[in-house]
Amino acid sequence: MGRLNQKIAVVTGAATGIGQATVKLFAEEGATVVCADVNEEDVQNTVNEVKNNGGKAEFVYVDVSNEESVTSLANHIKETYGSIDVLFNNAGIDEEGGKVHEYPVELFDQIIAVDLRGTFLTSKYLLPLMQERGSGSIINTSSMSGRAADLDRSGYNAAKGGITNFTKAMAIDYAREGIRVNSIAPGTIETPLIDELAGSKQQEQGREFREANKWVTPLGRLGDPKEVANVALFLASDESSYITGEDITVDGGIMA
Ligand code: NAI
Repeated sequence: MGRLNQKIAVVTGAATGIGQATVKLFAEEGATVVCADVNEEDVQNTVNEVKNNGGKAEFVYVDVSNEESVTSLANHIKETYGSIDVLFNNAGIDEEGGKVHEYPVELFDQIIAVDLRGTFLTSKYLLPLMQERGSGSIINTSSMSGRAADLDRSGYNAAKGGITNFTKAMAIDYAREGIRVNSIAPGTIETPLIDELAGSKQQEQGREFREANKWVTPLGRLGDPKEVANVALFLASDESSYITGEDITVDGGIMA
């Protein structure tokens, strides 16, 4: 018996990395997974893989930073499933922008729009689908970058720090309605997002970026997306029924 049997789960940023690993795990555990992303091609591959393994998943296009796009996702889910049990707000972007005086305004706006505003919008429009059921689990994605600072990435630091506290605000707002809200704070996880950060540097610096991250991680390696997905599964399932308002670190010990 799967830990998410009969549950409807929405995963944003489902195409690659942590989202993709979570879609596969949630489906293996019996959930019907709505895979919401801007990247249709990669999600379709995952959806086909899930279906070939006997699981249930579908792709729905959504740009989490766009209100109209999110309301159309909510309408689709309401018409198709009526309500939902789990929302994993995982979609996110990250890019170095330099120190604040040189940081491009457009980049700052874009990171806040996708990472922070996106988490607000999907929560705002999908929460009513949990309220109808009187239960639910929302899992947001913060970061160790929401707790401590990174050089040249103040936009990302601001967005992720915002998500940590936004999570707590939602947790107390909806606790009496049976809806739990937590976040996961990953350390450095091997995903395309890390490729992008490392790749934006010269090749030699890119290698150094990975080596430096391994070096500062007490477990001595980068994380695997499945290791974050495992925590999302715990928070999505009834096994975490008395946990709300928490920010759970999955970082190989960096913040210890
Ligand atoms: P990724 O780049 O593999 O995945 C991000 C996903 O979000 C992609 O599928 C992308 O298409 C989607 N996406 C981007 N903009 C979108 C939009 N406007 N609307 C809908 N979907 C959109 O990266 P990764 O690493 O799997 O990241 C997942 C989450 O984990 C992000 O929120 C990221 O900030 C966070 N995180 C990742 C860490 C890492 O080391 N990889 C560390 C800490 C946090």
